[in-house]
Amino acid sequence: MRKLAVLTGGGDCPGLNAVIRAIAKSAQGYGIEVLGIRDGFRGAVEGDFVPLALKDVSGILPRGGTILGTTNRDNPFAYQTKLNGVNQAVDRSDNVIRNFKKQGIDALLAIGGDGSLNIALKFVHKGLKVIGIPKTIDNDLMATDQTFGFQTAVDTAQEALDRLHTTAESHHRVMVLEVMGRYAGWIALYAGVAGGADVILIPEIPYNLNRVALSIQKRAKQGKKFSIIVAAEGAKPLGGEMVVERLMEGRVDPIKLGGIGAKIGHDLEEHYGMETRVTVLGHLQRGGSPNAYDRVLSTRYGAAAVDAALEGEFGIMVALQGREIVRVPLQEAVNQIKLVPLNDPLLLAARTLGMELGD
Ligand code: F6P
Repeated sequence: MRKLAVLTGGGDCPGLNAVIRAIAKSAQGYGIEVLGIRDGFRGAVEGDFVPLALKDVSGILPRGGTILGTTNRDNPFAYQTKLNGVNQAVDRSDNVIRNFKKQGIDALLAIGGDGSLNIALKFVHKGLKVIGIPKTIDNDLMATDQTFGFQTAVDTAQEALDRLHTTAESHHRVMVLEVMGRYAGWIALYAGVAGGADVILIPEIPYNLNRVALSIQKRAKQGKKFSIIVAAEGAKPLGGEMVVERLMEGRVDPIKLGGIGAKIGHDLEEHYGMETRVTVLGHLQRGGSPNAYDRVLSTRYGAAAVDAALEGEFGIMVALQGREIVRVPLQEAVNQIKLVPLNDPLLLAARTLGMELGD
């Protein structure tokens, strides 16, 4: 093992730089050279490599974003290419293999979520030596207890909930905080518990707005004249239409409608006369410095990936299981979403505490 390449794919996430740093430092310890690939798989197709020596990663541990750039769109197996003036999706995966050969790269360390790791797996099938590193603030990747970036996103959402509490209490209002989580409610659940939300709405449990309203009214009767709702962006009403369905049929103005937070706020005011305000936390959850937990986890993932490369184990992803970093087949991580199980201990604890889950 003489040369490794590393790329960051998909949406950014606190801890990406910490992983890159850990890879560069560990590899240097073993005398292995590391190249960074710029802008995810685009750089792999175009041959856009940069050296990642110790001096290149110095000081990046606490920095948000990624020094390598990242992209959501470029897939070498369906690469947007202009042919005869027309944009077409062309298979450029052989370019990647050629570029790797030209650079003398022995293996690829792919830091990504479901989308990027799926592409990485296709390269495994093409004979490339690949190790995956699990990234997403949503924590919805299979085969690992936790992705890096998740805990920092939870911190950000919890701080927002703390702030919303004081203003909600002052104005006797219902506050809705919409957090990320397209498919899974991990951020909403953890931040909701940490931030003492009264209602937690997640995609895994379609909500009944009447129950939500009743729980708010019950609190009001007990003298609590404000309530805090945290809703994952993928939360959906029981038997109701998904916002996306209404958008696609052109029945609502997307700008006026907003996401699920806006819908919940609108419905509580319209049908229950509750004064409601909505905050969409959005990309604040993705930006900024990783917390201590994520710096440690990212560092462990980076070091473990280099160890795996050194021991010649490929087609795997490094994963957290319990307190251990283990190696799992890459294919176990992709093509499935890790939803919050309905018997998740924290979900059950939230119920025990009397938090409303909308079902
Ligand atoms: O990283 C996943 C995620 O955080 C989702 O929860 C969210 O829907 C998405 O990214 C938004 O990403 P972007 O705005 O970059 O497309």
